[in-house]
Amino acid sequence: MNETASLRARAEIDLAALRANVRVLRARASGAQLMAVVKSDAYGHGALRCARAALDAGAAWLGTATPQEALALRAAGIGGRMMCWLWTPGGPWREAVEADIDVSVSGMWALREVVDAATEAGIPARIQLKAATGLGRNGCPPADWPELVCAARTAEAAGTVRITGLWSHFACADEPGHPSIAAQLDVFRDMTEYAQKAGAEPEVRHMANSPATLTVPESHFDLVRTGIAMYGISPSPELGTSADFGLRPVMTLAASVALVKQVPEGHGISYGHHYTTSTETTLGLVPVGYADGIPRHASGRGPVLVDGKWRTIAGRVAMDQFVVDLGGDTPAPGAQAVLFGPGDRGEPSAEDWAVAADTIAYEIVTRIGARVPRVYVDKGQEHVDEGPDLS
Ligand SMILES: Cc1ncc(COP(=O)(O)O)c(C=O)c1O
Repeated sequence: MNETASLRARAEIDLAALRANVRVLRARASGAQLMAVVKSDAYGHGALRCARAALDAGAAWLGTATPQEALALRAAGIGGRMMCWLWTPGGPWREAVEADIDVSVSGMWALREVVDAATEAGIPARIQLKAATGLGRNGCPPADWPELVCAARTAEAAGTVRITGLWSHFACADEPGHPSIAAQLDVFRDMTEYAQKAGAEPEVRHMANSPATLTVPESHFDLVRTGIAMYGISPSPELGTSADFGLRPVMTLAASVALVKQVPEGHGISYGHHYTTSTETTLGLVPVGYADGIPRHASGRGPVLVDGKWRTIAGRVAMDQFVVDLGGDTPAPGAQAVLFGPGDRGEPSAEDWAVAADTIAYEIVTRIGARVPRVYVDKGQEHVDEGPDLS
């Protein structure tokens, strides 16, 4: 038996697919560099391995949300340009400056903290000023921009920071033609122009996430920041399927059927008995549950391929397991139950699970828990990582 055949569950990560997706996205935005967004353990795919694969395929930057995520990549030996954007007061500014990580600055408190850290470190901080152009989340509002730009330029003149980037983030890029897209682009152009007139000479100006990379070419500027599309998932079914964009899903989630048994008609299934067998039938026990990231909200709805047939979760998803009604079929224990994947075997997609759980496919892959080993597959070779590779 090979190393992975006996696993209770596995999230297979196809690194060749990830590299191919990076190449497809680079071709879409050929005038810009590509930042591989590997936050949240690369959307559940494993940050270190995905970062390496993305860099191999020509990504020029890596992006994370938290500084801790970026620092963990540096500690694992990943070099090159790296940026993180989700800061709170007292964050590890000095560590980030010393690790040559670009840090996002959305307001005066952050500028003050990074200037202090850079002064202590004796190294200029690489800062990227974030413009609030309409998402209504992080970023410096237009009214406060002159003060922030002026203070950042003063710090730059003093040698404590270097303004390496000007950037922003879309609210509705996954809704083609949404009026906010053009409106945000206008505000971004005005704000970058203001900063550049004030003397900022950014290496990169950037706004585009996956949907904008795929469908809003005028948003590409110098750099695109792609997450979900790199993992082979369409950012929005409205925009097209992943296949429409030439992308291939990277994660396949499967489990070994733990038990197959015969039950009579009228048998209640799982907590609360929300499913009752309508006839004598067979049940399959799939040993993954909400502790593994399977949404409890998909109880009675989530699809799974068992022995070549689509089945639907019967009753509630429990912490560690759920049940499918096999309709009299008797696959052997150990048969693979494939929850989602690229579809080669006819299995459901992460998007099918998103529909079943009233969410988006981003959440389906990102929430797969640490208890599920990631099995990295590359050109036929397999390697198992027990749990996420960055803890
Ligand atoms: C600031 C920022 N840029 C880029 C991305 C990547 O977005 P997507 O996964 O849609 O490509 C994200 C993810 O939400 C983000 O927070």
